[in-house]
Amino acid sequence: MVAKFTNDEYTLSIAVSSGLEKVAKKELFRLGYPESPALNGKIEVKGSLIDIARLNVFLRTAERVYIKLAEFDATSFDELFDGVSKIPFENFIESSGKIIVNGKCVKSKIYAISACQKIVKKAVTKRLCDKYSVNFLSETGSEYEIVFSIFKDRAEILLNTTGVALHKRGYKNKVWIAPIKETLASAIVLMSDYYYNRPLADPFCGSGTIPIEASLIALNIAPGKNREFAFDKWKGFDKNLKKRVIEEALDKEELSRKIEVYGTDIDKKAIELAKYHAKNAGLEDRISFKTRPVKEFKTDSDIGTIICNPPYGERVYDRQEAETCYQELGVATNKLLGWSKFIITSAKNFEKKFGNKADRERKLYNSEKECRLYYYYGKKGD
Ligand SMILES: C[S@@+](CC[C@H](N)C(=O)[O-])C[C@H]1O[C@@H](n2cnc3c(N)ncnc32)[C@H](O)[C@@H]1O
Repeated sequence: MVAKFTNDEYTLSIAVSSGLEKVAKKELFRLGYPESPALNGKIEVKGSLIDIARLNVFLRTAERVYIKLAEFDATSFDELFDGVSKIPFENFIESSGKIIVNGKCVKSKIYAISACQKIVKKAVTKRLCDKYSVNFLSETGSEYEIVFSIFKDRAEILLNTTGVALHKRGYKNKVWIAPIKETLASAIVLMSDYYYNRPLADPFCGSGTIPIEASLIALNIAPGKNREFAFDKWKGFDKNLKKRVIEEALDKEELSRKIEVYGTDIDKKAIELAKYHAKNAGLEDRISFKTRPVKEFKTDSDIGTIICNPPYGERVYDRQEAETCYQELGVATNKLLGWSKFIITSAKNFEKKFGNKADRERKLYNSEKECRLYYYYGKKGD
């Protein structure tokens, strides 16, 4: 039996990586969602079913969109079972739905994650068996991930509408050394002064993430327009909603804009990969990728924005090699007074090696690693 999603107002909980809450809030505001508080890496907004599709397709800096199904006190397994049993899962999950339960317990009386997983699963299964009048669930259909989060004895039960996290846009399917996540790359572009009428350069472009995300932003291309989400496979979820959102996304594209986006890297293989990823993203004619060491960075333009993620000197490159990169970046770009620079690294002595004190810095995390984004402002463009 197919679930009947009701077109009620839902609380949608948006998960963002630590440090990106502010930029994600701004994105939500621009998409028309009222200012909402960000707490512990999540932002809540109200929305109906179409908002689930909109948020998944349009958000650049968030990781997942959940439907918040319930929130209640859970100091014991019984309370957890009872709280979960009251949730109308039959409104979301078809009778053949495959149920996956994940979650976390933090600073709470119940803390055994695997025991909580079993209890939540038991409560969901019992509820669905009762409602569909069956003795067992076949679980042969689409996947539904139910997530519990128990923090200080308060449980939240969520349904993952995204599936695989939103940083997986679909265009980057080959790996490169220390790539930056698409969500973090786009957040840095949004935090920077980049606008489509300025040139943008990444002199350590690796597999191309920053130039690709910047181009998507410049051309107003929705990051999720080509990917599939968990809700796409749910039988009861109206397929027309996603179609309408994709139409809205295509309508908003600004493909006639002329953009100047450059990616360079010392490694020929990286450049081949960056070109391949740009092609997957439909941007092969929009970005110039070239093999070039940073010390040969050159530009004909008086103004522009450099955004980059150079080696940190921790894994593939040693500290000395990373520091040489910072020095060479400084020598090549510090004289370009009209160019702004936004550089993310975990190296504590970055400013010293780069040879210039940042106008501002901000703490960010790149794959759990604490980093700083160093801001150097250049001349403002039009
Ligand atoms: C942290 S990775 C950048 C990853 C990239 N943001 C991505 O998403 O794939 C650093 C890059 O710097 C490049 N690199 C190292 N030394 C360089 C140099 N002297 N000049 C230019 N690129 C260099 C490496 O080849 C590598 O691709």
